[in-house]
Amino acid sequence: MFDALPPRVSIYEVGPRDGLQNEATTVPLEGKVALIEALVAAGLRRIEAGSFVSPKWIPQLADSDALLPRLPKQAGLVYSSLVPNLKGLERALAAGATEVAVFLSSDETHSKKNINMTIDESIAEARKVTEAAQAKGLGVRGYLSMVWGTPEGRRPTFETVRRVAGALLEMGCYQVSLGDTVGVGTPRQTEELLEQLLAVFPAPALAVHLHDTRGTALANALVALELGIETFDSSVGGLGGCPYAPGASGNLATEDVVYMFSQMGVETGIDLDKLVAAGERAQKLVGRKLSGRVFQAVIGQRERAKKSGALDG
Ligand code: COA
Ligand code: ZN
Repeated sequence: MFDALPPRVSIYEVGPRDGLQNEATTVPLEGKVALIEALVAAGLRRIEAGSFVSPKWIPQLADSDALLPRLPKQAGLVYSSLVPNLKGLERALAAGATEVAVFLSSDETHSKKNINMTIDESIAEARKVTEAAQAKGLGVRGYLSMVWGTPEGRRPTFETVRRVAGALLEMGCYQVSLGDTVGVGTPRQTEELLEQLLAVFPAPALAVHLHDTRGTALANALVALELGIETFDSSVGGLGGCPYAPGASGNLATEDVVYMFSQMGVETGIDLDKLVAAGERAQKLVGRKLSGRVFQAVIGQRERAKKSGALDG
């Protein structure tokens, strides 16, 4: 079964954006900087940091203008921020962004709720943003949400997914990240969807962005890996969700995907111990226990070792 796995994959860390925008606690600027520094130290090289959407819609990330200039810069280290319109792009450029992400939905109702535009309106808006961003030398990534289904149980047709993903690539996005925004997907559905998409688009043009709401994210990631997908969005400790998609709990946890892939011989470039240290910081910042399984297992093991060490000593 696992004969043809790619030797290495790219992990796209979305905790500082998708994660933090869904937390009740607004993490102060210093905390965001420290979290991202810890993620960089763990080896993450693609990090979603901030969002230049309306601060009224996502107050947790309203300080993105101040965040970007504070982040460590290194060759090969890329930060990306969400941009819904030209106003958002202006803010991203002023903050020194080198990559932005446009985001569309594969469901009409969700599109209206999330960005107050129909799918066609949002394609036109994203095209303006992408063209203007590219003219300034920025990389542009595309997100497509609700690909596996909606909170209300609707499922976009394959034709809709293909059309909107195709529009994102055609307007100039270097990659489309396919979102199981509410975590409803199953492995069989993932196989069907990706096989059809990979018949039309090359594997490097696609990424998967999975949420673990129903415990199927890791299984879906494994199917995607088997089919040749090489970019996986995940969030440290399993932070995350989307506040306009009720029931969207955490993203696939970065520790879980790093642990499983690296133990299977697929290189991620990430140091798991340092990643857990970043998770501990995230957990402190949001003030609640994070859901990541490997994250909690490593912490639990450490605490038990400490206790038995104390008894032995
Ligand atoms: N940054 C800051 N402010 C912005 C903005 C941006 N990118 N885009 C619009 N605004 C402001 C406008 O200036 C206006 O302000 P005012 O009321 O003080 O005049 C207000 O927001 C409304 O602008 P309008 O163009 O009418 O937008 P809208 O109300 O139709 O909302 C979006 C459209 C896209 C800006 C909004 O839906 C949004 O930010 N959605 C993001 C949702 C999200 O991030 N979801 C999570 C991703 S899963
Ligand atoms: Zn998400």
